[in-house]
Amino acid sequence: MSRILAIYGSPRRKGNTALLLKQAVQGAKEQGAAVEEVMLRDLKMAPCLEIYACKKDGRCVIKDDFQGLYDSILACQGIMLASPIFFYTVSAHTKIFMDRCQSLWAKRYLLEKAVRGEGERTKKGLFVSVGATGGKKLFEGTLLTVRYFFDVCDADLWRYLLYRGLDFEGDVLKHPEYLEEAYSAGKELAQAVEGLK
Ligand SMILES: Cc1cc2nc3c(=O)[nH]c(=O)nc-3n(C[C@H](O)[C@H](O)[C@H](O)COP(=O)(O)O)c2cc1C
Repeated sequence: MSRILAIYGSPRRKGNTALLLKQAVQGAKEQGAAVEEVMLRDLKMAPCLEIYACKKDGRCVIKDDFQGLYDSILACQGIMLASPIFFYTVSAHTKIFMDRCQSLWAKRYLLEKAVRGEGERTKKGLFVSVGATGGKKLFEGTLLTVRYFFDVCDADLWRYLLYRGLDFEGDVLKHPEYLEEAYSAGKELAQAVEGLK
């Protein structure tokens, strides 16, 4: 059975990205994947201290809830990440988590000496995001951030779902087609990672 890690990055438990990710999770489960759901706001996670103790064995030395998440990243074949746009990037909860994944960067690029762009990535990533405004560049910087985040997790940015003009909690419910799209993406991600080790 394929394993998918679904990460809720908004401080809102039932916000727009959470509702979308829930749909994706539902789709993946119906496809037969085992999905672990993690709400970052419920975890105790310190920001990266940039001491690079992770250079030793690729593990972060800060003993908090990141440790479990690190193991879950290594064990899964698919990653779903949902974050709202806050000041043209991901939420603070999401960014703290991403920065702690510098330990995965150390593992991949320092210890395992991976070469960027070479070799197959073993996982696939789905990114879901929303912003209140409608600007053309709303997701530009964030996509770059997410692409490189997935890279250290050994995942391709397989697909992204980006929605503009959603602000207040539940706004996404006015767009059942977005929820439908998220459901299908979850289902398709589960299909795409079936058989991956
Ligand atoms: C701290 C903060 C910063 C935000 N910055 C932006 C922004 O730069 N651009 C934008 O379009 N919306 C911005 N928003 C609006 C959120 O992206 C929007 O409300 C979104 O629907 C929240 O998603 P959620 O319900 O999943 O948390 C910001 C909201 C907050 C609270």
